[in-house]
Parts: sequence; structure tokens; C-alpha cells
Amino acid sequence: MQNELFSVKNKKILITGASSGLGAHYAEVLAKAGAHLFLLARRKENLQYIVTNLQKINPNIEYLVLDITNFDLLQKTIINLLDKINGIDVLINNAGYSPKIKKNVFDLEISDWDDIFDINLKSMWYLSNIVAKNMQLNSIKGSIINISSTVANRTRIGNPFYGIAKSAVVSLTKKYAVEFAKYNIRVNSIAPGFFETDMNRHFIQTQQGQEFLERTIPLGRKGNFDELNGVLFLFASSASSYITGECVFVDGGYITNSIPN
Ligand SMILES: NC(=O)c1ccc[n+]([C@@H]2O[C@H](COP(=O)([O-])OP(=O)(O)OC[C@H]3O[C@@H](n4cnc5c(N)ncnc54)[C@H](OP(=O)(O)O)[C@@H]3O)[C@@H](O)[C@H]2O)c1
Repeated sequence: MQNELFSVKNKKILITGASSGLGAHYAEVLAKAGAHLFLLARRKENLQYIVTNLQKINPNIEYLVLDITNFDLLQKTIINLLDKINGIDVLINNAGYSPKIKKNVFDLEISDWDDIFDINLKSMWYLSNIVAKNMQLNSIKGSIINISSTVANRTRIGNPFYGIAKSAVVSLTKKYAVEFAKYNIRVNSIAPGFFETDMNRHFIQTQQGQEFLERTIPLGRKGNFDELNGVLFLFASSASSYITGECVFVDGGYITNSIPN
């Protein structure tokens, strides 16, 4: 009964940013659960490696090599894919980018704004529009999952545009949820806390990083990738058929933590 409720078996799922880190993890657990996957990113070698390994457990894994900020190509490629496979059931907007060089708001330039917003927000909006129109056309009761971050709710000095973009992801999720509800398309977001990937390894692996995690996270540690599975399966399956517009923080209590005395 429980397994059926959270089942993603044979669901067609498109994951952006699946060539490393959390996106590659989502691909692995969804592949093991029998989903039909389409993995999208720019690094072809990474995608090929991941797909070759996953195909040993599930043959229904394909990949698309694409820069999501190349909007014309994105539109063409995704429309072709959706026509070929008669639509997808779940879109996971996971591709994202946080600059390693920290800047204050005063030091930011127009190009910083464009880069961060194109990757973290504009492409999410653009791709969701294409997919949702197709879901509507094919009468698919779809689910869109947008990956936000704890920086949507907590301010940390040194990376302002990333935080602004991730806040906007939560806001976009809510607006889409209301607009798409009449087509039975649900839109939710997941906001991970600290999970060690290429994006933050340079910080997490330092002593300063370790002390930061222990001090600021009530559960006192970084997250393990598998600790995202619960909410991933919830939103990807019909277990969340009456949930839309939500953002779930998977952060060990980081954003709820009390202000130090
Ligand atoms: N790790 C964390 O603790 C954490 C916390 C909160 C939120 N997040 C969010 O989780 C998501 C995944 O991040 P991660 O930690 O797993 O980092 P990651 O390993 O650096 O993954 C980022 C993914 O996005 C893809 N990507 C970036 N720019 C792209 C573009 N222009 N076109 C297509 N794909 C692009 C990358 O693939 P290519 O380079 O191959 O294109 C890669 O697969 C991001 O949205 C991030 O903001 C992560």
C-alpha cells in the first residue's frame, strides 16, 4: 500500500542538472524505483557515465546535452522530446549555479545578475512553461518540482544574487501552483540545506565549514543525499495529489534555528 502510494514506476521524469551532485542522486534513486528518465545537463561525459551505470538497473534512461540558458535550443529540443514521448509526468528543475567568488551587493555587476538569474530562475520559468503546456495538451496530471535553497529564507553575507534567485524560485512555484491548478498540474519546491557537492565542497570540507555546520544546524551536521528521498518521492508521486505551492526545507532545522543569545 505504502509502496504504491509513493510509486514512480513508469513515470516519465525529466531532471535538469543531472550530471553531478543532487541531480545525479535524484536520477539514481528514481531509476532504481522504475521511472523512465531524461537527464539534462551540459557535461556530456558525466551524463554518459551516469546513464551507462544506471542502465544496468533500468534500461529506460536517456540523456540530453544542453545548456538551459540557450533558450531557443532548449525550446526546440524539449518540444521534440515531448512530441516523441507524448509528454512527461514530472519535471525536476534542479540545474543551478552558485558563484564560488563571494561578492557584496555593492560589488555586483550587471553580468552577475544575468548569469545567476538565467540559470537559476529564467530557465526554470521557460522550461516549466513548455512542459506545462504539453501536460495540458496531453491531459497529464503532472508534477513540477523546483529546487530552491535555505538561502531563500536565510541571509548569508557574500552571495546575494543566488539567494534572491532562490527566493524567487519559491515565489514562482506558488504563482505557477495557482495558475496550473485548473489543469491538475501541481508545482512544489524543495529547499535543501547543506549537502556536500561540487557547489559547496570547498567550504564544507574546511574546519571553518565543519564548525559552521555544527553551530548553525540544530541536527549538527550536513545532510546525506538519501535524506532528500522522502520529499522527492512525495512530490514526484501521487502521494502529494492534494499538495501544491509548498516549499519543504530539508535542512536539519537550519532555517528554524534560534537566534544566538
Ligand atoms: N548542495 C547543496 O547543499 C544545495 C543546497 C541548496 C540548493 N542546492 C541546489 O541543488 C541544485 C543542484 O546543485 P548541486 O549541489 O547538486 O551542485 P552541482 O553538482 O554543481 O550541480 C549543478 C547541476 O546543474 C547543472 N547546470 C548548471 N548550469 C547549467 C546550464 N547552464 N545548463 C544545464 N545544466 C546546468 C550542472 O551540469 P553541467 O555543468 O553539466 O551543465 C550540474 O548538473 C542546484 O539548483 C542548487 O542550487 C544545492
